[in-house]
Amino acid sequence: MRIVLGVGGGIAAYKVASLLRLLTEAGHSVTVIPTEAATRFVGTATWEALSGNPVSNSVWDDVDRVNHVRLGQEADLIIIAPATADVLARAAAGLANDLLTGTLLMATCPVFLAPAMHTEMWRHAATQSNVATLRSRGVTVMDPASGRLTGADSGPGRLPEPEEILAAALGVYSAARARTGELAGRTVTITAGGTQEPLDPVRFLGNRSSGKQGIALARAALAAGAEVHLIAAHLEVPVPGNLQVTRVGTALELRSTVLAALPVSDVLIMVAAVADFRPADVMASKIKKSDDGADPVITLVRNPDILKESVELRRTAGGPAVIVGFAAETGDPDGDPLTHARAKLLRKGCDLLVLNDVGQGRVFGEDASAVVILGSDGSESAPLSGSKRNIADAVVARIAQALTG
Ligand code: CTP
Repeated sequence: MRIVLGVGGGIAAYKVASLLRLLTEAGHSVTVIPTEAATRFVGTATWEALSGNPVSNSVWDDVDRVNHVRLGQEADLIIIAPATADVLARAAAGLANDLLTGTLLMATCPVFLAPAMHTEMWRHAATQSNVATLRSRGVTVMDPASGRLTGADSGPGRLPEPEEILAAALGVYSAARARTGELAGRTVTITAGGTQEPLDPVRFLGNRSSGKQGIALARAALAAGAEVHLIAAHLEVPVPGNLQVTRVGTALELRSTVLAALPVSDVLIMVAAVADFRPADVMASKIKKSDDGADPVITLVRNPDILKESVELRRTAGGPAVIVGFAAETGDPDGDPLTHARAKLLRKGCDLLVLNDVGQGRVFGEDASAVVILGSDGSESAPLSGSKRNIADAVVARIAQALTG
C-alpha cells in the first residue's frame, strides 16, 4: 500500500524513524513528508535512507510533478506522527501552506494522526477544538500516551509507541477498506504454500513452493476489504499478523479444511502446491537402511484433487461464487504452457485459472512472476509480469470483476 508519513516538528520525530522501518518492513511504499520544523529534529537524509524515496517538504520542489496533488491522490493511507499542536491547527483550518498540509487537502484516503505535545498544549481549548473538528470530518486522531515528556514534565502528550501507531493506523485502513474496497463484505479463502506428505516421523515428500504468491494474494484481498481466511501449508515466508490462519501439513488436511470453509466463502483461491501423491504407508518409526543393502520401495497413492472437488461440490451443495486455480506449467512436446493451462481450466471446471510459466526453475521462491489469467468464459488477460504483489492485485481485481459480472 502507498503510505504518506507526515512528520511534525516535535522531539518525538525520532521515534517515527522506527515507525517508518516497521512500515517498509511490512512491504509498504512510504513517502515521508516532514514539516520544515521536523527537519530540525531529524534530517531529510534519515527519512530518505529509511524510506528509499526522495523527501521534500516544499511545494516548490519538482514543480512539474505537482507533488501535493500526486501524493494526495495516490495515497492509500496518510499517517502523521507526531501531529503537533501546529499541524493539528493547520489541518483543522484547511491551510495548505506546505507540502504536508497541501497533500492532506488533496487526499480522499483514511487519515490517521498521532498527536504529541506538552500536556498544556494538548489540553488547551484551541487544540481540543481542532481535534474535535478533525474527528467530525472522519479523521482518526489517536489520544496521546501519558508519561515523561521532553523536559522534567510528565502527563498526557507522549507519542504512543511505533508498534501501537502502526496497529491502530492499519486497523483504521482495514476498517475503511471493509466498507469501500472492491471485495468489501466478501469472505475469501486462500490456500498457500506446499503440502508435506510424511514418509516416517522424520521424512516427508515436499515441493518447492515458497508461499510468497499466496501471502501476496492474502494481503491484496485484505487491502481490497475482504475478510481473508488463509489455509497455510508449509511456507517459507512469515504470515502477516492480521490474518486469520489455519495451518495444515498434508494434502488430506488441506482438503478437509478447504471443504469446511466452502459454505462460508465467496471466493476460493487455490494457490497451494498440493502434492498429487502421498506415500501409501506412513511408517510409525524411522525407515532404517537394511543390512542386506536392498533399496527401499515407496508406494505412492493419489491425493484427491481439492480444486476439482470444490467445483463439483458447488454444483450440488453451493459454495464460493468464484473459484480460482493456479497452474504451474513448463510446456512439453504435447503443448506450450498456455495449451496445458486451457486444458486444465476445462478439466478442473474452475472460474479463473492463473497460469505461471515455471520452465527452468522460474517463479519458485522468487519475488517476481509472470502470469496470464484465463477465464471459463474464454477470456485471456494480457501477460502480466512484475512483483508477486502486483500480480496479486491484478488477480484480485479480476476476481472482483468476476463477482460483479
Ligand atoms: N490442486 C488441488 N489438488 C491437487 C492438486 C492440485 O486442488 N491434488 C490445485 C492447485 O492448488 C492448483 C491447481 O489445482 O490451483 C492446479 O495444480 P497443478 O499441480 O498444476 O494441477 P494438477 O492437477 O496436479 O496437474 P498436473 O498433472 O499438471 O500436475
